[in-house]
Parts: sequence; structure tokens; C-alpha cells
Amino acid sequence: MRFSHGIFTNWTAILVLQLFMMDIALSVGKQASGNQSTGASTKYVTSAALTPATICTSIHGVTSKQMRFCEKYRSLMASIFEGIAIGIKECKFQFRKRRWNCTSLISKPPLYRNHAVPGTKEDAFTHAIIAAGIAHSVARALSSGNFTLPGVKSDTKNSINNGIQLAKEFLDGQDSKNQEIKLMNTHNNEVGLAVVNTSAVMECKCIGPSKSCNVRTCWKRLAGFRTVGKGLHELYMKSVKVKSNQAQSSLVLVGDPFSKPTAKKEFVHIKDSPNYCDRKASLGILGTHGRTCVRDSNDKEADVCDIMCCGRGYDTRIVMRKWKCRCKFYWCCFVKCKSCTEDAIVQSCK
Ligand SMILES: *[C@@H]1O[C@H](CO)[C@@H](O)[C@H](O)[C@H]1NC(C)=O
Ligand SMILES: *[C@@H]1O[C@H](CO)[C@@H](O)[C@H](O)[C@H]1NC(C)=O
Ligand SMILES: *[C@@H]1O[C@H](CO)[C@@H](O)[C@H](O)[C@H]1NC(C)=O
Ligand SMILES: *[C@@H]1O[C@H](CO)[C@@H](O)[C@H](O)[C@H]1NC(C)=O
Repeated sequence: MRFSHGIFTNWTAILVLQLFMMDIALSVGKQASGNQSTGASTKYVTSAALTPATICTSIHGVTSKQMRFCEKYRSLMASIFEGIAIGIKECKFQFRKRRWNCTSLISKPPLYRNHAVPGTKEDAFTHAIIAAGIAHSVARALSSGNFTLPGVKSDTKNSINNGIQLAKEFLDGQDSKNQEIKLMNTHNNEVGLAVVNTSAVMECKCIGPSKSCNVRTCWKRLAGFRTVGKGLHELYMKSVKVKSNQAQSSLVLVGDPFSKPTAKKEFVHIKDSPNYCDRKASLGILGTHGRTCVRDSNDKEADVCDIMCCGRGYDTRIVMRKWKCRCKFYWCCFVKCKSCTEDAIVQSCK
């Protein structure tokens, strides 16, 4: 192992506004452009760069309903963006070993879009995790208790419910020309929101002097977002195929048109997924050429070369792995790390 010095700031993640989604595309001009090349001079979006006063005019590509939401709840918008960013980040983590890995597909700064193939279960997951990210991040902000929002009883004990309601209001402002897709998105958004609620943990505290704990106060505490992501990933694998009913008013199971999918508990999709093996630009599919994979794996993980490379075979080479290590925090506020390196053998798909 070899070391060298490097400095990076630990705050770049504050508002990674370059991450955008589905029906939302945002443009924040140069404010969000990072300078990663030198590390030490990394710029990042602070809440100051997007004050409530300027935030709504910096957004492009949202529906008029969402614009009204922005006007109404300006002080929440930073949390909404942060929620989108944590949702996408978690999506990438949960799918890091899969052919489809949640990479944003079209990225032309300052306009980014993150599309999964509409109607697939990857699309279902994307919607749900972003919905969950928004609810989670808004709930966290509300629990700090310093918000006065129109029509929201600001009670820090109720922050999870309020966060979910507000996320839902924002997401319901989305539009789709295709009614079946719209039903699907709404359903999957609700699955995402519900998992934030069900993964929250009840916490209680005794009040008063006596040790007997006659009087307790209880509240729900948000689970870490990794827990939410894991829960949603498990649901993704069990997504059920649906179609809209004759009246286009609700979704029914393809295998059993008299049954509906379980509300808030089951992902739904209307299209089978492509295999994601080969690049298909029109659908935003990048293909797995060049992806690293694992040659030998005991369990049949999705990143085993046979699966990842779709039978095309793989190349083996030696690369120098580099990572930040032995980090020290200096008051205040930067982190200084050494850079560790090591030679490693990697396989990558042909
Ligand atoms: C990044 O920072 C370096 C040094 O401060 C500067 O020379 C360079 O132009 C910057 N690049 C961008 C893209 O801002
Ligand atoms: C809460 O908001 C008020 C006024 O907006 C501000 O003065 C105060 O510092 C805030 N408190 C916290 C803990 O953020
Ligand atoms: C969250 O779950 C509780 C039950 O644990 C339920 O009473 C509440 O309505 C749920 N909140 C939302 C927004 O669905
Ligand atoms: C995700 O997939 C794309 C395209 O195959 C690839 O370029 C990218 O490096 C992958 N991301 C990760 C984190 O593996």
C-alpha cells in the first residue's frame, strides 16, 4: 500500500442538484457545478445559493401544480431537492451490482434527467425511492421544529406524517400523458412513502422523577435511509405486473383482472424490463460493456461476470485501486486524508 496526501471537503453532498428525475428537470445554472479537479476548491451549493426567495425561479421543467407548491412552501424546497438527491444516491447503491444501475441517463448540464424505461419495475423503484427520499428529508427538516407552513400543524412529533403528506402533495403535482403510467407512478410513489412510515421506529421516554415510568411520551423516529432503500429493494424483486381496467381508473393484475395490487405494499409495473445488456440510446439504456464484474462468487450475485456480461465474456486486468484513508478532521472545517493505493485484479465485461 502506498500513501499520498490529499484534501477534500466533506460538504459536497449538501445539495447535489445535478441529480434529477423523471418528470422533474431543474436548472440551477453554474451554482451547482462542482470543481472536483482540485478538491480543495470544490464549490457546492449551499442553502445560501438557493434561498427561499430565489428557489422557485431557479426551477425548470416542473408542472404548474408543482410550481404552486414551490410558491406555497418555499422554505421546504431545499429539503425536497435534498430528498431527490438522497433517493437517487440510494438507488445507485442498491443497484450497484446490477445491469441496470440507476445511472442517470441523459446528463447535459445544467439540465439532467433521470429516466428509467417508463412502465418497467426499474421505473417503479425509481419513483418510489425518490418519493421516499423526499418524505424522509422533509420529515427530518420538520422534526427540527422551525417551520411555519401554511396549513400544516407544525408539531415535531408528527413530522413523519407531515413529511409524507407534503411529499405526496408535491409528487401528485406530476403529470403524465399516459393514464396507465400515471396510475402506476402514483401507486409506486405511495409504496415509497409507506415504507418511510413503516420503517420508522417507535421511541419512548419516561417523564417525571419516578423510576416507575408511569408517564411516558412516545414518538416515531425516522429509520436511516439505507433501511428504507433496502426495504424498497426487496419489494422491487416482487413487483407485480398490472394493467389499467377498462375505465382507466385503477390498476388490476394482469394474471387476474378481478384483483387489484396491494395498496402501499406492492410495486407494480406494466411492461417487462429489457435485459439491459446492450446499449440502446433511444431507451436510455447504457448496456453493460465495460462494467466491472466478479469472476467467482459463491452466491449468484448479479455482478457475477456470467450474468453481468450477458455471456459476452470479460477482460481481466490489473489496476491500481485508490481510496481515501486515514482521514483526520481538522477544526474547522475540513478533512485531510491520505490516499491509499493497491494493485488489484479486475474483470470487466466485453
Ligand atoms: C477548478 O479550480 C481550479 C483551481 O482553483 C481552476 O483553475 C479551474 O479553472 C477550476 N475549474 C472549474 C471547472 O471551475
Ligand atoms: C428558527 O427560526 C427563527 C426565525 O426564522 C430563527 O431566528 C432561529 O434561529 C431558528 N432556530 C433554529 C434552531 O434554527
Ligand atoms: C403511518 O403509520 C401510522 C401507523 O403506524 C398511521 O397511523 C399513519 O396514518 C401513517 N401515516 C401516513 C402518512 O400514512
Ligand atoms: C453503471 O453503469 C454504467 C453503464 O453500464 C457505467 O458506466 C457506470 O460506471 C456504472 N456505475 C457504477 C457505480 O458501477
